[in-house]
Amino acid sequence: VSKGKIFLVGLGPGAADQMSGRARQAIAESAVVVGYAKYLDLIKDLLDGKESIRKGMTQEVDRCVAACELARDGKTVALVSSGDIGVYGMAGLTYEVLLQSGWTPGDGIGVELIPGITALSACASLVGAPLGHDFCTISLSDLLTPWPVIAQRLEAAGRGDFVIALYNPRSGRRQGQLVEARRILLRDRRPDTPVAIVHSAYRERQSVQLSTLEAMTDCDIGMLSTVLIGNSSTYFDAGLMITPRGYGRKYADLTGEVKEGERSGRSLSMGLGGWKACARRFLRDNQSHSLRQVARYFDVPSGEVLEAICEAGDKDPAGVYAAASIRPGKEADVLEAARDWGRLRAVVRNEAGAVSELLLHAIDFSRRGDWLNLENEHFHLHVNWSRVHRAWMLRRGDDLRSLYFTDERQDVVFNLSLVRKEGELEEAAVQCFEQAWNQLCVGPKQ
Ligand SMILES: C[S@@+](CC[C@H](N)C(=O)[O-])C[C@H]1O[C@@H](n2cnc3c(N)ncnc32)[C@H](O)[C@@H]1O
Repeated sequence: VSKGKIFLVGLGPGAADQMSGRARQAIAESAVVVGYAKYLDLIKDLLDGKESIRKGMTQEVDRCVAACELARDGKTVALVSSGDIGVYGMAGLTYEVLLQSGWTPGDGIGVELIPGITALSACASLVGAPLGHDFCTISLSDLLTPWPVIAQRLEAAGRGDFVIALYNPRSGRRQGQLVEARRILLRDRRPDTPVAIVHSAYRERQSVQLSTLEAMTDCDIGMLSTVLIGNSSTYFDAGLMITPRGYGRKYADLTGEVKEGERSGRSLSMGLGGWKACARRFLRDNQSHSLRQVARYFDVPSGEVLEAICEAGDKDPAGVYAAASIRPGKEADVLEAARDWGRLRAVVRNEAGAVSELLLHAIDFSRRGDWLNLENEHFHLHVNWSRVHRAWMLRRGDDLRSLYFTDERQDVVFNLSLVRKEGELEEAAVQCFEQAWNQLCVGPKQ
């Protein structure tokens, strides 16, 4: 029996000249073409003399099963889809159907996937260069994806300042999803963030609307629209939507000299290897800032700033701050040592922003299993000790001595500070603190 073959073909956005040569060739080599009726209409010129199997919009599984059965009968089949067949397309489903029937690559029927221009790049090309920096796609279709999952992705993309392409933004029955997406994105993004809505790119009824995040829901948006939402630096100019790549951060102007402090061909001074030095410079220039304020300024967890302070050197001090990290595995030891530090202030913040500040005596804490219990006759506070990943000691001039416990993401779980008496730290407590620093920290710095 001759082996059949399935071509998984991405047709591109719609216009014949946006289809790849290989896609055309694959259709020419196929005896049967399977696809959604409207996509087959887009390529009717290529179907002469071929069997074509037209299926409805919701019959994706039927299309895959039909293609697999025909290939098993020895036929060469093209399963076609708009855009890229691997992007919200039928490639995954076809592989699943095949694998579930015991098929493995290289054994039995052949499979070749032919990429196509996806809606994302097709639509972007019609409005300028909105994808000039990191971007993501999110489908608002909740027919197969639970809404909480979609909402979480919107939230993460908003927080991460990604340019976002919304696929399946709205249909006759799904009107509320785009309104909800806008509400979520407005938490992190300005209302005047540029938005482009491209409808039927490279097809007969192609249209482009330029709008803003605030106003986008008033636009004409349907099943064949893709919504491109800019990031915090995207702008409109002369009717074009542009997301800059960041050249302005490095060069005085686009053709000009490298800016002071930057080096051609090297990471930006705020790159991985340099941003901590920038944080230390900021600490030198802003001595009254708290650790938390600095973390907010750089939009990083406080643990990252603690790390930047730890790496300070004589030539590169962190202003009035010095820090050291507790040796791994010694986090509980420093807690024990803190029993000799007299009165302490514990600060715990919850995710909603409530802050508890508790004055306690070292004797007030105990450990039970995963929990660290801070309790006396006035309060009971239970901290999940299993979240503690690292511990840090921090000095700020003569007025602050603190212990920070951070989780795996470098967020603060809680912190403890020596309490001042009449404006001064108690000398005995400071001595015990310094002793713990010398005994328990990695490469203690004086
Ligand atoms: C199921 S997805 C299929 C995506 C397709 N596989 C691709 O790579 O473009 C359908 C969604 O893609 C977007 N889309 C597909 N073709 C488009 C076009 N020509 N113009 C604008 N958006 C398009 C729309 O958001 C539509 O709701």
